[in-house]
Amino acid sequence: YLNYHVPRTRREILEILLKGLRRLEYRGYDSAGVGIDGGNGKEWEANARCIQLIKQSGKVKALDDEITRQQDMDMDVEFDVHLGIAHTRWATHGAPSPVNSHPHRSDKSNEFIVIHNGIITNYKDLRKFLESKGYEFESETDTETIAKLVKYMYDNRENSLTACLMINPEGAFALVFKSVHYPGEAVGTRRGGPLLIGVKSDHKLSTDHIPILYRSSGKDKKSCPTLPRLEQDTCHTLFAEDKKSVEYYFASDASAVIEHTNRVIFLEDDDVAAVTDGRLSIHRIKRTAGDHPARAIQTLQMELQQIMKGNYSSFMQKEIFEQPESVVNTMRGRVNFDDNTVTLGGLKDHIKEIQRCRRLILIACGTSYHAGVATRQVLEELTELPVMVELASDFLDRNTPVFRDDVCFFISQSGETADSLMALRYCKERGALTVGVTNTVGSSISRETDCGVHINAGPEIGVASTKAYTSQFVALIMFALLMCDDRISMQPRRREIIQGLRVLPDLIKEVLSLDDEIQSLAAELYQQKSVLIMGRGYHYATCLEGALKIKEITYMHSEGILAGELKHGPLALVDKLMPVIMIIMRDHTYTKCQNALQQVVARSGRPIVICDRDDYETAKSSSRTIRVPHGVDCLQGILSVIPLQLLSFHLAVLRGFDVDCPRNLAKSVTVE
Ligand code: F6R
Repeated sequence: YLNYHVPRTRREILEILLKGLRRLEYRGYDSAGVGIDGGNGKEWEANARCIQLIKQSGKVKALDDEITRQQDMDMDVEFDVHLGIAHTRWATHGAPSPVNSHPHRSDKSNEFIVIHNGIITNYKDLRKFLESKGYEFESETDTETIAKLVKYMYDNRENSLTACLMINPEGAFALVFKSVHYPGEAVGTRRGGPLLIGVKSDHKLSTDHIPILYRSSGKDKKSCPTLPRLEQDTCHTLFAEDKKSVEYYFASDASAVIEHTNRVIFLEDDDVAAVTDGRLSIHRIKRTAGDHPARAIQTLQMELQQIMKGNYSSFMQKEIFEQPESVVNTMRGRVNFDDNTVTLGGLKDHIKEIQRCRRLILIACGTSYHAGVATRQVLEELTELPVMVELASDFLDRNTPVFRDDVCFFISQSGETADSLMALRYCKERGALTVGVTNTVGSSISRETDCGVHINAGPEIGVASTKAYTSQFVALIMFALLMCDDRISMQPRRREIIQGLRVLPDLIKEVLSLDDEIQSLAAELYQQKSVLIMGRGYHYATCLEGALKIKEITYMHSEGILAGELKHGPLALVDKLMPVIMIIMRDHTYTKCQNALQQVVARSGRPIVICDRDDYETAKSSSRTIRVPHGVDCLQGILSVIPLQLLSFHLAVLRGFDVDCPRNLAKSVTVE
């Protein structure tokens, strides 16, 4: 956070930074830290010549407490110009501890400090190089190499270009720097990790887009792009028109800035953004074909209220209960229930090409992958194309053949998942058409795909994904409907599904009304070690997704099992003690599911069954039933997953865990 001619006390600056961290905490929460100006005098430049770092293990609250303990800091001293940086960490290299938490520093006098989101893959080589130059490392992190590298380049300006080329950091990163040598200046850059800049000023801004400054055309061709001092030129910078009173917020996610401003600039990979004298400029080394030569200032539609918990005990609970509205938002303006048509603006220029393709490949991770599994059958049915559903990491590991006439979908809530992003680049290189299905406007996946669909579920903060799953599900169904809108033979089925979508929000509300019943089921199960979830056909994805929810927030073992595979192994796990949840709906797999139910009962199992509300037959063989309303077969997976979302939530609460911050996990996995 940088304030330029906006007087702020140290207390206010820290509060802005900590609040931003709390908003971003879902991305990582094992340690946190801030770097601010250490002086207390009247001269801001002198104050900025001394940087103070405060770091703590644990959640942002622990950092907040640590700041309160810092008795010798004058909280009321006012800064006219000040840059403070802060970070909440999800450990990749080095255990969570104050020394491993960010900001990292170049040396004991904190000449350069840096915060980093991502991973530096060649950090060992960088560290070896820097150690050979006499640098002493204090942490085990990859990030510390960057702080030291910048100092090395600062101290060795003459050969900085050579050094930079030789020891260029590799990997995925978003970095923001602060330095005693450049008071009141901020520099940020990204490659693979998201970085945006919020701009706030009461004065008119000089422009609504910032032309890029290309280093290769500048005077100082030799210096490295990660060095803070970058020349500016009035027509290439952004500033408040009276050249005063502007605040900048660098963040990896819009939720950290939205309460201050909705005007943001999304940086592209390898952009270097610098604020000097209150002006923001954006730099790149050289212009390459296809580069957009400017970055627009965009106005975000997000509301602060969307990222607040309201009356719910956790974000996850709020997001589960938001689903009647979030699926409507996914369909809004796209599905016309009167004339049974679907329009997807983001695909309109490419739909003909997609209709001509040879196969569809859906690529994603975790819950987003399950959304692909859940809709595969209806995609195959309505598009009459082969559909592959791939886990991004495995897809890359296999070097999967991809052809020019393939259409590859990248499903991602955050739009930043490193594996999915790399798979996207892999498919683009092979000439396939790429389609994004994301929930985050301006995210890397939404920007790098040829076309796409925003699921419009609203910000999802709970680490365990819930409403994004059901909205991805709906978005993929809408795509399938669009693909066959001119096929006469498909019209009765299309109408059935579209009318099913119309009533979906009400059916979701009915499922949510089972919450008390599900809470009492959780009370019976919460001390168990393991839960099996079985189903087939449209509900196999529900089993996988339900098991993932239980694993990630309750830490119980849980496994989603395809009921058709039961006799090929998993049946051995069934006895009278093992909790088994079965999903049995009246669709084309009903008889086969009944067989599976009988097999479980025959092994003394006591199955808990999620079934259609009026299915008394199934209820007879079950120890307990969760009865849900009946919708169209291919949409029923939305109704069968919600009881499992609720169950995992109640299990986690009863087991005493923090639902929104499961151990070892982070919301946005921007590392491989
Ligand atoms: C599970 C969960 C993760 C994500 C996965 C992909 O609840 O949240 O499995 O689904 O990390 O993330 P996105 O969808 O952001 O690409």
